[in-house]
Amino acid sequence: MDRVKDKLCIVTGAASGLGKCSAELLAAEGARLLLADIDDEAGEALAASLPEARYQRCDVSSEADWQALMATAEDMGGVDVLFNNAGIAVMATIESTSLEQWERVQRINSTSVFLGCKYGVQAMKGRGGSIINMSSMAALVGVPLFAAYTASKGAVRSLTKTVALYCQQKDYGIRCNSIHPGGINTPMGAKALEDADGEDLKLMTDAGASMGEPEDIGWMVVYLASEESKHVNGAEMVIDNAATAA
Ligand SMILES: NC(=O)c1ccc[n+]([C@@H]2O[C@H](COP(=O)([O-])OP(=O)(O)OC[C@H]3O[C@@H](n4cnc5c(N)ncnc54)[C@H](O)[C@@H]3O)[C@@H](O)[C@H]2O)c1
Repeated sequence: MDRVKDKLCIVTGAASGLGKCSAELLAAEGARLLLADIDDEAGEALAASLPEARYQRCDVSSEADWQALMATAEDMGGVDVLFNNAGIAVMATIESTSLEQWERVQRINSTSVFLGCKYGVQAMKGRGGSIINMSSMAALVGVPLFAAYTASKGAVRSLTKTVALYCQQKDYGIRCNSIHPGGINTPMGAKALEDADGEDLKLMTDAGASMGEPEDIGWMVVYLASEESKHVNGAEMVIDNAATAA
C-alpha cells in the first residue's frame, strides 16, 4: 500500500514506543522518514532498518536543534508531515510535584510542540502539509497521579486548534490535529504501571481500562499523514477504548 508514498515525514521521539511504531507503519506505506530523538543508538538502528530513513539527533526542547532538523528536511526536498510525538511522563501529584519537575515536563512535552509547530508552519507554508501533535487522554480528564503531565498535554490540545485555525485562515494548506491515547503498551506505559503502587493506582483515571497496542496509535498517524484525512483539521482524535467516554 502507498497511502503516504514519497511524503517526507518527520517523527520526533522516534527511537521507542509510539514514535517507532508510527515510523515503521509510515515507511510500510511508502513514506520517506527523518527520525529525531535523543537516544542516538536506537534512532540510528531504526533508520538503518527502514528503506528510506535518516536519523538526526534533536532534543525537542532546543530551538537550535529544531532549526537544524528543519534545515535537513529542506535538503531532503521539504517536509510534508510532522509528527510531534516525543514526550516524558513524571508520576507526581499536585502536592508532590516540584517546580523543577513541572518546568521540565512543560518544556519537553509542550514547549517542544510550540517549537515544532512554529518551524513546521514556516517550512510547510506554500507547499501544504499535515502536523500531528501527540497529546493524551490526560488533556481531556484529570489524572491525579500525573499533575504536570496533564497540564502539558492540555496545552498541546489547545495549541493544535489554534494552529489549525490560523493555517486555515491564512490558506496555507496545512492541517493540524492532536492524538489522545489512553494507556498504551510502550516502555513509557509499562514503566508507569511498574512504578505505581496500590495507592497510586487509585489515582489513575483509566486504571480499569485495557492497555492499547502501539499500532492502535500508529494507524491513526498514517491516516492523519495521508490525503484520506484531507478534511480533518483542528480535531482531537481519541483512542482510548472508551476510557474517557463516561
Ligand atoms: N504510552 C502511553 O500510554 C501514552 C499515552 C498517551 C500519550 N502518550 C504520549 O506518546 C508519546 C510517546 O510515548 P511512548 O509511550 O512511545 O514513550 P517512550 O518512552 O517509549 O518513547 C518516547 C521517546 O521520546 C524520546 N524523548 C524523550 N525526551 C526527548 C527529547 N527531549 N527530545 C527528543 N526525544 C525525546 C525518548 O528518547 C523516546 O525514544 C509521548 O508524548 C507520550 O506522552 C503515551
